[in-house]
Amino acid sequence: MKRYHLTTYGCQMNAHDSERIKGMLEKQGLSEAADQHDADVLIFNTCTIREKPDRKFAEHLAQAAALKRRHPGKVIAVGGCLAEAQKERLFELYPQVDVAFGPGSIPHLGEWVGSDGVAPRGRFGQWDSFAGDLPSHRERGFQAWVQVSMGCNSTCSYCIVPAVRGREQSRRPGDIVAEVAQLAREGVREITLLGQNVNSYGRDLLPDLRTDFGELLRACDAIDGIDRIRFTSPHPKDFRSPVIAAMAECAAVCEHAHLPLQSGSTRILKAMRRTYTRERYVALVAELRAGIPDLALGTDIIVGFPGETEADFQETLEVVEEVRFDSAFTFVYSPRKGTDAAEMEEQVPEDVKRQRIERLVDVVQRIARERNEQRIGRVEEVLVEGTSRNDEGELRGRTRRNTTVNFVGDAEPGSLVPVRIDAATSTTLRGVSAGAFAVGSARSSAAVA
Ligand code: SAH
Ligand code: SF4
Ligand code: F3S
Repeated sequence: MKRYHLTTYGCQMNAHDSERIKGMLEKQGLSEAADQHDADVLIFNTCTIREKPDRKFAEHLAQAAALKRRHPGKVIAVGGCLAEAQKERLFELYPQVDVAFGPGSIPHLGEWVGSDGVAPRGRFGQWDSFAGDLPSHRERGFQAWVQVSMGCNSTCSYCIVPAVRGREQSRRPGDIVAEVAQLAREGVREITLLGQNVNSYGRDLLPDLRTDFGELLRACDAIDGIDRIRFTSPHPKDFRSPVIAAMAECAAVCEHAHLPLQSGSTRILKAMRRTYTRERYVALVAELRAGIPDLALGTDIIVGFPGETEADFQETLEVVEEVRFDSAFTFVYSPRKGTDAAEMEEQVPEDVKRQRIERLVDVVQRIARERNEQRIGRVEEVLVEGTSRNDEGELRGRTRRNTTVNFVGDAEPGSLVPVRIDAATSTTLRGVSAGAFAVGSARSSAAVA
């Protein structure tokens, strides 16, 4: 039996694509190898959102190429966003690569990598079927990603995603709901709906299927057995009241939204082509918070976009102070070949970018810690994911507001337990399972102290 090894980079979309790649190959009779040495087919599902994942992949590929020189029978397959971005030059740049495929061509991978051989070369720019319709190999039985759309119709000037993932295509609502119902029957309790811009979901569907993201949330919420619904990412420009109402009214939809800000300066937002202003973003946050009590907000922020002045950066800091995010991913702007921003003059010097991100991270972390400290003393519902990463004797899970909690208690992965929060950092909470607290308070509070 042939064996494969898959390395994944990048976002949740890619992680989910990898589950589909695994599911498809396993259906064709391949099995997963523990490491690259044991594998006949080495697959890389790549990301090219910033320069860093590019570099990481180049390093890993060099290692795989060295392995292949010693064991020439091994096949190297490179898929994902970086493969699509470099499709013209991929085989030239990396002669060790046998098979290459873009994110839209995943369903075709099985045609080349079968249990009885490999048809070399690549396929790109095919957006004809959803990877979401392939079998899936999931790591956890109780959590699942569900693809709602592929591609992106936005034209953010810094972003490579539209070039590598194509135009937005919504999956048919019936297919999504059928998948969620099937997942629920298999024991899944938490789903995360995935799309580059979930708020524009449904707009491209034929008139008789046309729907919106709020309706999709309601349809998923109505499925028995699904206790938690998350989604990523909503684009602020398309976040409309019906979606906020659906979030508020659907019991399973979690009190959490990841709402990328990118910049607090309207001038920079315009150059980024985000099509909202600072004021519109802040007003949307107010509307969300008014509609959904106790909402947790996450965000993405870029510093050092071309032309960003100290005053622009100050505006970003102001919005962060005003909105008070519960969590934030912060990025140094990374020029991507083929995007408009990469061609802009006034690129910000590296040392200025570095200095700004450090200042931003300080503010983001302080506020996140303060926000988390406000949870101390409350009892939160936690979905148990496994044992704590730092302490085998403790459990780890996440609240509905998407904060990781390490806690003392006894529960199976996949169960929902009440946890009393005792301590907080900028990224995690600590606590005691409320049941365990009631019975063995002496031991539990000693462990938390
Ligand atoms: N579709 C999602 C985000 C996809 S990329 C959305 O629009 O919300 C995830 C994040 O990477 C973006 O939100 C942005 O903050 C960051 N990012 C994208 N391109 C980048 C670049 N060229 N340099 C630095 N950060 C970038
Ligand atoms: Fe990139 Fe903008 Fe599309 Fe997000 S919405 S994937 S940042 S182009
Ligand atoms: Fe995701 Fe990276 Fe592609 S962030 S969409 S895997 S470029």
